[in-house]
Amino acid sequence: MGLDWIAGPGAALRGEMDIPGDKSVSHRAVMLAAIADGASRIDGFLEGEDTRATAAVFKRMGVRIDAPSDGVRIVHGAGIDGLRAPDAPLDCGNAGTAMRLLAGLLCGQDFDCDLVGDASLSKRPMRRVIDPLLRMGARIEAADGGLPPLRIRGGGKLRGIDYAAEVASAQVKSAVLLAGLRASGETVVREAQPTRDYSERMLAAFGWPIEFAPGIARLPGGHRLRATDIAVPADFSSAAFFIVAATLVPGSELLLKNIGLNPRRTGLLHVLRAMGADIAEEKRGVRGGEPVADLRVRHARLRGIDVPVAHVADMIDEFPVLFVAAACAQGTTRVRGAAELRVKESDRLATMAAGLRGLGIGVDETADGADVHGGTLRGGYVESHGDHRVAMAFAVAAQMSRERIRIADVANVATSFPDFGERANAVGLQVGPAA
Ligand code: S3P
Repeated sequence: MGLDWIAGPGAALRGEMDIPGDKSVSHRAVMLAAIADGASRIDGFLEGEDTRATAAVFKRMGVRIDAPSDGVRIVHGAGIDGLRAPDAPLDCGNAGTAMRLLAGLLCGQDFDCDLVGDASLSKRPMRRVIDPLLRMGARIEAADGGLPPLRIRGGGKLRGIDYAAEVASAQVKSAVLLAGLRASGETVVREAQPTRDYSERMLAAFGWPIEFAPGIARLPGGHRLRATDIAVPADFSSAAFFIVAATLVPGSELLLKNIGLNPRRTGLLHVLRAMGADIAEEKRGVRGGEPVADLRVRHARLRGIDVPVAHVADMIDEFPVLFVAAACAQGTTRVRGAAELRVKESDRLATMAAGLRGLGIGVDETADGADVHGGTLRGGYVESHGDHRVAMAFAVAAQMSRERIRIADVANVATSFPDFGERANAVGLQVGPAA
């Protein structure tokens, strides 16, 4: 049986806290370092199951990766043509980012390989990356319905394409760009709704001639990557649970240090501020080419709003915890244009709606969103459906509930935030393993 938590009710959050490294940046840092020429040092690497899975995949393809201490990796790059054929399927675990980006990175290699994942990843759509990669000349087969596992046949020749993305997805954009490294000619990705640009920024940092601006990225094939050192900023999406918890619990004042504030990630800040939150940015700086700041969060009373559809892509991972903020706000919060939530680690519209209803909150679900009617949370039992962000969002909800909440199946929190419980308890949250 999986691990359950018992959480809440909680007291005011006080003090300062550090947050682990960014998951998206950690994945990409290992991937590009692995195919660069020379050794790259990654500082602030996320010690999560997802990002460790990516590192293990490259080790299987002959890349030496040293871990001299927690959060540090030295990757001895094999060069763009130096990966070795793996002797077993490449296991991406729970990580959609790993599988989709690797599909792009590996489809131009000279060898065959298989990409596999856990039960959740095995239900996530891969057609969105397979289709553009096939257009580039890749040979990839999926299971029925375009689901994992993926079988990639190497040895073909790729050609660049000009691709208008059909879904707002940094993973799809990144897969196409990574395939473009080994393609002839130019690869262009156009996005109606700009998404996080870490792949573009990091390709530039590794010396690839890439041009990009919100909504477009363009690169030529046929170059090489130069090893470089990467400092990973703290993950905004992990900080988000504490931003919401400190906002909700009366008497809280919490300082979250050095949080990555890439504008394609911080939609939640705009939305929470529009709901009445008190979040100040202090000590603004730059880490690893990314804007960072300390965030000082003080308790504030929230009111429901219509979440602007323009912010949805910039807060795509924050909806579970936004739903909790909405449940505690006065009035109704309306979310639309967020159908992508149905194909995350769980169907996050369904799992959050069911969980909140079970705790006494009114939620009207629609095909691409929900109306959440603020109210009073009571204790009880919720299923996380093995979704790390759903589990952490309900741990935040529990701080505001009248009685404690049992949250089922939380082991996957280790995919993105392995010591969430310890760090949460240190600033005043009540959460721990169920007996
Ligand atoms: C990610 C992109 C997003 C996000 C995921 C990480 C990335 O997924 O939800 O957690 O690192 O590129 P989509 O590209 O499917 O929107």
